[in-house]
Amino acid sequence: MFSDVTFDFAGRTAIVTGVGSPRGIGRAILSGFADAGAHVAGCDINDDQLGEVKREQPDAFVKNVDVRDKQQVIDFVQQVAARYGSIDILVNNAGIAPFCPIIDLDEATWNRTFDTNVKGYFLFAQTVAQHMIAQGQGGNIVNVTSVSVHTSGEHKAHYCASKAAGGSLTKGLALELARYGIRVNAVEPGTVDTLIIKDAYLAGLMESLTENPGTPINRLARGGDMVGAVMFLCSEAANYMTGSSLLVDGGGFAGSQMPQDALREYEKAKADRTK
Ligand SMILES: NC(=O)c1ccc[n+]([C@@H]2O[C@H](COP(=O)([O-])OP(=O)(O)OC[C@H]3O[C@@H](n4cnc5c(N)ncnc54)[C@H](O)[C@@H]3O)[C@@H](O)[C@H]2O)c1
Repeated sequence: MFSDVTFDFAGRTAIVTGVGSPRGIGRAILSGFADAGAHVAGCDINDDQLGEVKREQPDAFVKNVDVRDKQQVIDFVQQVAARYGSIDILVNNAGIAPFCPIIDLDEATWNRTFDTNVKGYFLFAQTVAQHMIAQGQGGNIVNVTSVSVHTSGEHKAHYCASKAAGGSLTKGLALELARYGIRVNAVEPGTVDTLIIKDAYLAGLMESLTENPGTPINRLARGGDMVGAVMFLCSEAANYMTGSSLLVDGGGFAGSQMPQDALREYEKAKADRTK
């Protein structure tokens, strides 16, 4: 899944949340750190998928954890520290994106979105940072946010607001944790071909985006495309970066593109001129 970029994280321990989903970003990041020699620990709320993660990564510590539940988070982080001796890296990735027009959105869905995408990131960051401070060796936290930190979208105002909160949380954590040698950064994916969209009325969305990705790099991202950015931020190559973010969106946010038929017309006229 991830082999094009090489980093060495031997002897380090990385926690990744939301690792269950088969084509998900979290699963790819967990594999990336394992391939780079790290001890890896992953969690997910979906028990069904954790068996498969364990088969893929037999040395990994994987556990059913709801990132919204403070006691479950504390217990998991303690178990990881007891098993591997230290925690060096946290990747906050577990997230949900239930789509709904804002005028129809119920309070429960709003709360579930913020509890997962914001409170879950806070609970893990706080708990892991406490361990890192006690260890006294610094560490790295990477929050997987979204291009939605910068922009919104129809039927996902609540999701985008939660991701913008994740971006702000990244900066606040960076300010308060720098004195302990803990760097906190974010990776902002564009559209990634995963199973995050579960709403029936959007069943065909990923297929239509696959046909028309609307990005200069003319395809949707795969989970593995996020791994290099996460590892770079956790590596010494990024030792002067904190409170920062990397946009990994295939150039989608760079600006608007010309329609393909207009480009074809331009090339045709150019060829005619040179005849
Ligand atoms: N797919 C995209 O286009 C995209 C774009 C930008 C950002 N992101 C972000 O990337 C992250 C990963 O998304 P993905 O696309 O891989 O989605 P995914 O649905 O494939 O994976 C998310 C995983 O998080 C788990 N999860 C959800 N709620 C949880 C909870 N309460 N406790 C523990 N685990 C929980 C799910 O079970 C799932 O395995 C999310 O934070 C998402 O917002 C995704």
